[in-house]
Amino acid sequence: MQILGIDVGGTGIKTAIVETTTGELLTERTRVATPRPATPQAVGMTLKEVINEHNWSGPVGIGFPAAIQHGIARTAANIDKSFIGLPIANFFSEQTGCPVYMANDADAAGLAEMRFGAGKNNPGVVLIITIGTGLGTALFSDGHLLPNTELGHVFLSNGVEAERYASEAVRVTKDLKWKDWGERFNLYLTTMESLLWPDLIVLGGGVSDKLHKFSPMITTKAPVVAASFLNQAGIVGAALFAEEQLKRRNASPDPAR
Ligand code: BGC
Repeated sequence: MQILGIDVGGTGIKTAIVETTTGELLTERTRVATPRPATPQAVGMTLKEVINEHNWSGPVGIGFPAAIQHGIARTAANIDKSFIGLPIANFFSEQTGCPVYMANDADAAGLAEMRFGAGKNNPGVVLIITIGTGLGTALFSDGHLLPNTELGHVFLSNGVEAERYASEAVRVTKDLKWKDWGERFNLYLTTMESLLWPDLIVLGGGVSDKLHKFSPMITTKAPVVAASFLNQAGIVGAALFAEEQLKRRNASPDPAR
């Protein structure tokens, strides 16, 4: 099935048409800036433009940087607070004129990695962490997702919230050397390990292709690998999520996306 996959981030919105049976991008990935302020109206307008640019009128899967419970946004760490409580899937469907299916961005990236990437055929507990403006997490057990884990917001032993200490945004803003940022990120990884005991940790987002620069600082027992899709996992996973929802809906029609 072909689905338009969109990954909405704190700074950029990435899009491509995805073949869901293989996870391949059928078009070149496009990127536009996330509007500021990222209000529902402004993001909706940008999504409409992006969808039009792709001449698309079919189903759209969107990974979004918030907990999304049955189509309703529950959090808004790096986006406008007015998203909280918004039936966001319906809102964007109306604004864009396309059927829109929404998942948390890290959960979407995780779906792609588990189906086609670094977590494929991996039984046990797999933790996917996306590193960008925030820290996103997706947790799988025997291939099943526990949605909306939001573990980038745990407080570390130094009293600082993880995504305010070890995100890519923090590395860039503070101009940290890879070694220094790697030590920060390792505190996050070891904290996650002591709470969840994953069998495998997969890193996605902008820094996933730089893993070699900070891997010497990592001390977890679980192996830590880069996402196979690097920072395209969110686009692919958003399309996979939409496909899953479409199949479910066809099997038993239910208004909650
Ligand atoms: C948000 C998460 C999101 C992560 C990565 C966090 O600030 O709370 O929902 O997955 O950023 O974008």
